[in-house]
Amino acid sequence: MAKPQISYRCIECGYRVPKPLGRCPNCGSWGSFEREAESINIESTTTPAQITTLSQVDSSQEKRLSTGMTEFDRVLGGGLVAGAALLIGGEPGVGKSTLLLQLAANLLAAGKGVVYVAGEESPRQVKIRAKRLGVTADLSLMRETRLDAVLAGLRQVKADLVVVDSIQTLESEGVPGSLVSVRNATQRLVRWAKQEGVTLILVGHVTKEGTVAGPKVIEHVVDATLYLETAGMYRLLRSAKNRFGAVGEVGVFRMEDSGLAEVPNPSEAFLAERPQGVPGSVVGIALYGERAIALEVQALAARSPYSVPKRVSQGLDARRVDVVLAVLERRLGLKLGNLDVYVNLAGGLKVSDPGLDLAVALAVYSAVVGKALNQRVAAVGEVGLAGEVRSASSLELRKKESLRAGFDAFLGPAEVRNIKEAVREAMR
Ligand code: TYD
Ligand code: MG
Repeated sequence: MAKPQISYRCIECGYRVPKPLGRCPNCGSWGSFEREAESINIESTTTPAQITTLSQVDSSQEKRLSTGMTEFDRVLGGGLVAGAALLIGGEPGVGKSTLLLQLAANLLAAGKGVVYVAGEESPRQVKIRAKRLGVTADLSLMRETRLDAVLAGLRQVKADLVVVDSIQTLESEGVPGSLVSVRNATQRLVRWAKQEGVTLILVGHVTKEGTVAGPKVIEHVVDATLYLETAGMYRLLRSAKNRFGAVGEVGVFRMEDSGLAEVPNPSEAFLAERPQGVPGSVVGIALYGERAIALEVQALAARSPYSVPKRVSQGLDARRVDVVLAVLERRLGLKLGNLDVYVNLAGGLKVSDPGLDLAVALAVYSAVVGKALNQRVAAVGEVGLAGEVRSASSLELRKKESLRAGFDAFLGPAEVRNIKEAVREAMR
């Protein structure tokens, strides 16, 4: 084997020499020589890496396997992908096991092989849940927490989907549930799934305080991460990472006695309880991934007993709300100085979307002047510091959703130039 070639390079001019010198003979710099990366000797037995050209790459869509739930498929970007690993995170009790048992039943009904690794619950508990959900298919269960045993067991069956509920219960290296253990178990399971072309779904618990040995450690090992979250009476399935689809996509469900039911028309569902003719209520169209959803922004203004009035917002970006309040004061002369102002996204939803600025502005205005706005108004647009109504992403999509949901008095940057005009139009 040849001796590795070491050379020294002047960081000023790039001049190379075999030995470091005090002064560069080329540019005259002192002490400028730095050791270069050793040129690596390649052993002749190493198989050279294959090179392919773009034209040789097969870019046709990966085959997708439907979950049997349109809302779930949407979040995945069209269904499950063979050999892909998916993480579903969420707080205990949000409905992860319920959703995945429903998914398992749907795939079984479609003639697919499914194994449910239940480390969290006894087979009896799983059976009770299955009964409640009306699942009659004979699901294969594995009650095991030792990773090696799980992998050995999986080698003996033919499965299209393996659900591991939950990743925290698996014991591999180190303390069960520890970061090292969880990451190690994930890596080995993911490698196995890729080799076998099996879709793998891992359940990961997230605690309210953040994550305990959970999803964050695994996120970069898996192909997609979805979170199941509570939003009032609804459950939102949201993609935080997805190698096969868009991020920020949401699917909407409702927890019922017989499991999670899909909510195909979130706009209608979220607006169902909207009060009629009440000041401070305005519909905005928010963007979740590639989906526009009509939501109600509510505002309330009340005389403040404090010298510094309160500004409270829920479900919205508090700083954006503050900016909108300042713009209303300065550009419309709205007196907010002695008022506590509360702004909510109704229904327990959360979104950070500048496109909701205009709806916030109109809701606050309506609340302060005590006059209800035209009920058919839906507003979309970012509000600039000069009070101008600016464009928002996917404006056309939002407008379409506005009309579909029955809000034909759409106010956006094409309809109104500034909040003054918006207020005038919304009051008509
Ligand atoms: P679960 O799926 O066990 O949550 P996770 O796996 O995320 O911890 O569901 C928890 C809650 O859902 C539980 O409090 C009971 C409720 N639930 C229903 O309301 N309806 C149902 O059909 C089922 C199965 C559960
Ligand atoms: Mg569970």
